[in-house]
Amino acid sequence: MKEKISQVFKEKFGSEEGVFYASAGRINLIGEHTDYNGGFVFPGAIDKVIMAEIKPNGTEKVRVFSIDIDEYAEFGLKEEDAPSQSWARYIFGVCREIIKRGGKVEGFDAVFAGNVPLGAGLSSSAALESCFAYALNDMFNGNTIEKFELAKIGQSTEHNYCGVNCGIMDQFASVFGKKDNLMRLDCRSMEYEYFPFSPTGYKLVLVDSRVKHELKDSPYNKRRQSCERVAKRLGVDTLRDATAEALDSVKGDITAEDYFRAKFVIEEKERVLAVCDALVKGDYATVGEKMYETHHGLSKDYEVSCEELDFLNDVAKECGVTGSRIMGGGFGGCTINLVKNTLYDQFISTAKEKFNAKYGHEPMIYDVVISDGAHRCE
Ligand code: GLA
Repeated sequence: MKEKISQVFKEKFGSEEGVFYASAGRINLIGEHTDYNGGFVFPGAIDKVIMAEIKPNGTEKVRVFSIDIDEYAEFGLKEEDAPSQSWARYIFGVCREIIKRGGKVEGFDAVFAGNVPLGAGLSSSAALESCFAYALNDMFNGNTIEKFELAKIGQSTEHNYCGVNCGIMDQFASVFGKKDNLMRLDCRSMEYEYFPFSPTGYKLVLVDSRVKHELKDSPYNKRRQSCERVAKRLGVDTLRDATAEALDSVKGDITAEDYFRAKFVIEEKERVLAVCDALVKGDYATVGEKMYETHHGLSKDYEVSCEELDFLNDVAKECGVTGSRIMGGGFGGCTINLVKNTLYDQFISTAKEKFNAKYGHEPMIYDVVISDGAHRCE
């Protein structure tokens, strides 16, 4: 990827080299739709990245080329200069959010490419934001912007320039990711802890339904509104501070839909803690059981699954896979599966065969390798 970027950079912007930066997509073992509810998440960065070569150009313009989309965009750094291409708005948003916080951004040339599958729920957009946030901090701000702020710059980019009212999980994972470690983040206090993760005898594997997942036009923002309505009714800041009993006590005053959304969130917050405890004890059976419970909740109560993902979850169950669930925002994308090494080949071939027979195409398979987050490539 680096060579290709370097070659295109020379073609577009001349022979003087820039600096390379990369940031990663993410998985999340458990803790879905909890981040914007002040709950816990348990993500890790993966070995699929967005990489960019970047060089200041001495002007007030940003000139950027996306290899994968095969498109060029050029924009200024003022609020009214927003580019029309949606991919370029991620980069523009990052520039603007840095400037709004008093940071410095000058014109630059950039070429980028990636191998984070798009629309698969692996946060390609957070990888793109984090790559540029990290790079612009290094290049123009002497690395004075703190890592948490870099994650927030990515999140605000989604809110203010991309129409997704997301939580902090994806950008956090992309910035803070560490090889062989998952991270438990408390999205209320923002405290986090690394958990070494290399389960003996098991693999984590993603099965991508290839149903394209696009949060912008999905009911993601509506889910968030449901949660906020219930929190307000309960008189708490977020559902993190709500209990199942409190929720039941207002059941008659809220819509059935809002009730089930909040019920899922309240249950999910406990599951993350249970999974962390189980992991420390090497109790993978419990980890897996909780993953299935999450899938059930996301499908039936939170209603962010789809037929194809429910099908993949059923296939995993039938094959005796230890844990399986839809991962990320939902409405398409991947299931994440905790599979015994001894069952791996059989599960993958059965999933491919059955899915193909029903939907006419095979799912993509990605073995999860937990890797480092945003960095400058030496
Ligand atoms: C998307 C959002 C995250 C998070 C997940 C669901 O990936 O970007 O903030 O809410 O969905 O857990």
